[in-house]
Amino acid sequence: MNFKEEYQNRIGSIENILKKYLPRQEGYQKIIMEAMEYSLMAGGKRLRPMLMKESYALFGGEGEIIEPFMAAIEMIHTYSLVHDDLPAMDNDEYRRGRKTTHVVYGEDMGILAGDALLNYAFETACRAFDIAPEESGRIGQALKILAGKAGIYGMIGGQVVDVKESGHILTGDMLDFIYRLKTSALIESSMMIGAVLAGAGAEDTEKMEQIARGIGLAFQIQDDILDVTSTTEVLGKPVHSDEKNEKTTYVTWKGLEGSKQEVSRMTEEAVRALRTIQPDGGFLEELLKSLVYREK
Ligand code: IPE
Ligand code: IPE
Ligand code: MG
Ligand code: MG
Ligand code: MG
Repeated sequence: MNFKEEYQNRIGSIENILKKYLPRQEGYQKIIMEAMEYSLMAGGKRLRPMLMKESYALFGGEGEIIEPFMAAIEMIHTYSLVHDDLPAMDNDEYRRGRKTTHVVYGEDMGILAGDALLNYAFETACRAFDIAPEESGRIGQALKILAGKAGIYGMIGGQVVDVKESGHILTGDMLDFIYRLKTSALIESSMMIGAVLAGAGAEDTEKMEQIARGIGLAFQIQDDILDVTSTTEVLGKPVHSDEKNEKTTYVTWKGLEGSKQEVSRMTEEAVRALRTIQPDGGFLEELLKSLVYREK
């Protein structure tokens, strides 16, 4: 099997897991379950659960406890996108090839669907306790990572500074701070949780955090590049969103060529670090490298 086929297979398994863990659409509040499914099942690269599963396998993990965490990280990521697109934030009307959640369900339900996905992510992750009560120590550690990396010292913190600093010219230091939090944090969470649930020690978990930090930065820089060079059809979300919102990005800071070089450099560095854990590369290495040339 080549990389593309392996990638597609993994997307299929991840989407089955997501479907399995989505709440049933029932009750007077049914509309919120519909909005959750609308945003979660709209497609997307499923990068975070994929990285989590590969990191779990890297340290020999084979059990089912990874599955509720894979669903949870994709729910948190999706909530961050639903809220990121709101009129008060980036004000974008397309996401994953469809109208954004607030456009279809209204701003009130858009806000609540984001809240719902965030909370349901933790309800879902807690189901790991039912699957393997004997692993409660590792599950507790993973929950701590999941909570922290999504919060004010993680993704939310990054979004706060990103939104507050729109319209200002930022230093490279500040830009790196924003990217490390708004984007790297959830990628760090994914790779660290995979490692922790498989039983990796503190040193290896920290290594995974560092690798994920670099990959997250490279990923966000590539996102900035595509915002300028791609099309809405290919990306499934509006291009020139950053210009519209007067964001300082790596592209405005270092130019297109400089930004592309940074993406390659940071990815190579991450791959070198990964090889100190897994010398023969494997799918995870291919996945990280593929992100440099991604077109969406
Ligand atoms: C978009 O994330 C937000 C960023 C952190 C750049 P993705 O590019 O992973 O979005 P999906 O999940 O594929 O839709
Ligand atoms: C958002 O960054 C990162 C999040 C935490 C959602 P962007 O605002 O650049 O993401 P896109 O381009 O809308 O996906
Ligand atoms: Mg944004
Ligand atoms: Mg945005
Ligand atoms: Mg963007």
